Amino acid sequence: MRVYTSKAELRTFISKEKNTAFSLGFVPTMGALHVGHLSLVKAALAENTLVVVSIFVNPTQFDNPNDLSSYPRTLTEDVQLLETLSETQILVYAPTVSDVYGSEMNADHFDFGGLEFEMEGKFRTGHFDGVGTIVKHLFEIVKPNFAYFGEKDFQQLQIIKKMVEITKLPVTITGCPIERESNGLAMSSRNSRLSAEEIEKSGLIYKTLQTVKEKFQSENHTVISDWVSTQFSNHPLFELEYFQISESENLAPIQQKNQTKIYRAFIAVFAGDVRLIDNIALN
Ligand code: PAF
Repeated sequence: MRVYTSKAELRTFISKEKNTAFSLGFVPTMGALHVGHLSLVKAALAENTLVVVSIFVNPTQFDNPNDLSSYPRTLTEDVQLLETLSETQILVYAPTVSDVYGSEMNADHFDFGGLEFEMEGKFRTGHFDGVGTIVKHLFEIVKPNFAYFGEKDFQQLQIIKKMVEITKLPVTITGCPIERESNGLAMSSRNSRLSAEEIEKSGLIYKTLQTVKEKFQSENHTVISDWVSTQFSNHPLFELEYFQISESENLAPIQQKNQTKIYRAFIAVFAGDVRLIDNIALN
């Protein structure tokens, strides 16, 4: 498998491959690949001639230095996993910080129309400026026709769609369904930092969301939020950071249920110092 650390070399290769029927798919990742990432790569492989997978732990999207330093880095294993999907149709771009950012690693400031102030934005200062910045840089380097993102980070997906609208970059964004462990835990690179007991008990998060979905048919959202809090109050392993029901499109918190709108429930939970997020479509 071709693994590039330099954008110039990546671009040279892609330019040579381009012909009239060529379509380039792109899956940006921070590595520590799991089945969730592989499902994005499979979607990209099915729809494109060539697929670039970037593996880059982006410092500007971390507000917590410990989270950045403890983020798993497993390039060799990641490449081996990708090779199980295709040896020839996938290119890996695993750059250094300076290859992507140049000499100054700064995040741009974006106006995402309010998407950035909800949920993750409230709890992770500057996070979405960092995500918008790196994905914009990567889109400019890779120049994909299609890019694939997981719905586990649903707010990120909406932010990236907005970034593309603002910057008018010619790339189509596709959201892919959340992949789950057998107990319902949403797949995430951070899961590798959970203890065996935390993994075993973490099914509570998705079970709670499924019950929220049932309750949403007949119950008021504040009653539901209170019920979610009780599921986690004094829990020995998990601490609820937030639970929110929002409109899917603009992520505005629900005020009065409106039958014409599409809603989603979002949750963030700490297991020790590992932060887990998940969400579910409600209607
Ligand atoms: O979802 C991720 O892994 C990251 O936020 C992304 C999109 C690769 C940007 O660094």
